[in-house]
Amino acid sequence: MFALDLIIKKRNGMKLTREEIKYFVDGYTRGEIPDYQASAFLMAVYFNGMDTDETLWLTEAMLHSGDTVDLSCIPGIKVDKHSTGGVGDKTTLVVGPVVASCGVPVAKMSGRGLGHTGGTIDKLESIPGFRTNLSRDEFVRNVKEIGIAVAGQTENLAPADKKLYALRNVTGTVENISLIAASIMSKKLASGSDAIVLDVKTGSGAFMKTFEEAEKLARLMVDIGNGAGRRTVALITDMDRPLGNNIGNALEVSEAVQVLKGQGPEDLREVCIELAANMLHIAGKGNIDFCRSLAVEAIEKRTALNKLIEMVIRQGGDPKAIEDTSKLPKAEYRAEWKSEKPGYIEKMNAERLGYASLILGAGRKKKDDIIDPSAGMELLKKPADRVEPGETIAILHTSDQARAAEALDILENAVSISSVPVQKRPLILGKVQ
Ligand code: URA
Repeated sequence: MFALDLIIKKRNGMKLTREEIKYFVDGYTRGEIPDYQASAFLMAVYFNGMDTDETLWLTEAMLHSGDTVDLSCIPGIKVDKHSTGGVGDKTTLVVGPVVASCGVPVAKMSGRGLGHTGGTIDKLESIPGFRTNLSRDEFVRNVKEIGIAVAGQTENLAPADKKLYALRNVTGTVENISLIAASIMSKKLASGSDAIVLDVKTGSGAFMKTFEEAEKLARLMVDIGNGAGRRTVALITDMDRPLGNNIGNALEVSEAVQVLKGQGPEDLREVCIELAANMLHIAGKGNIDFCRSLAVEAIEKRTALNKLIEMVIRQGGDPKAIEDTSKLPKAEYRAEWKSEKPGYIEKMNAERLGYASLILGAGRKKKDDIIDPSAGMELLKKPADRVEPGETIAILHTSDQARAAEALDILENAVSISSVPVQKRPLILGKVQ
């Protein structure tokens, strides 16, 4: 078998066999197939797609490209969650501690920013000292002893995904249902939890722009999860605007902490409660209404906040940066994005806001770019809000003044303003199980 033949086969729209997919995944993981051939292969998949069989074989090949985590020494049903990626999506930082503080172990391996979307690992690393590179033993020990660990993929967990994820990020091949499903489910199956809640985002800031595409992705991932013997459900949630008001790593940690203190923006709180309730429900904690009340109580009584602090201490982070979020990294410069017209914000292009944040330093343009933890933006206005000419829509944060001008260019026309009042869109759009 030759990599070139497989690239040509997929380029010509033909179906690959299980052996061919395994050959490609193993060869790329071992470094025998170079980045340029893998890039061409990904682009062929991007344009010609994979059917359900090919997606299952890709998931299987990626899952078996490395080690798997055995959580069987931990009693109870272990749950995991994963978002397909969005802008301002800091739900893991809230939901993980909420669920763990309700007595359900959370074993979560997260990723870094991808394209215009942020990644939990980059966010957590904005907490001074916080370690995300736990060994497999440390990961399991933390879940066992304190009920939660959120870490990067351990060295040899789904290494094929680790390499392909970074390559897709810089080759314009992220937004493909099969590649996303295989990437997420290979990691989720390898990381050992019994139950998985997926948050499939849809809208301008998501990889799936339409509800129909999001539903198709959700169905595929739920079927892969359930087929592998894990209880899997997916919520489809709105990403046609950023979630919450803050975008950027330290800014998002700070906002997640606000929610855990019973404050913070209502949209973020609503999605977090719904995700947490579903995680508690599939872990057998009771019916969904009861599980919602458990999640609310964990926030009100601050048990979830205390759980986050415990996790931060355990993973080497400075708990003072959580108790007082003004101790998180802060950008040197501020710039304001202002409205030119009066009216009501009708649409906010979340993808553009994500790219503007990336330019400010919150994300990567190239594989090895270093993130500025303090960069990003704070939205003072969201869809349905009234704005006047010259009023600030967002405050941009950056450590490099030149980047602010570039980000402001990207933000031009990123909102549309209506002269008549606008209705708020619902956030929870569907559930697939
Ligand atoms: N999150 C992942 O882990 N992989 C993707 O491909 C997209 C989002």
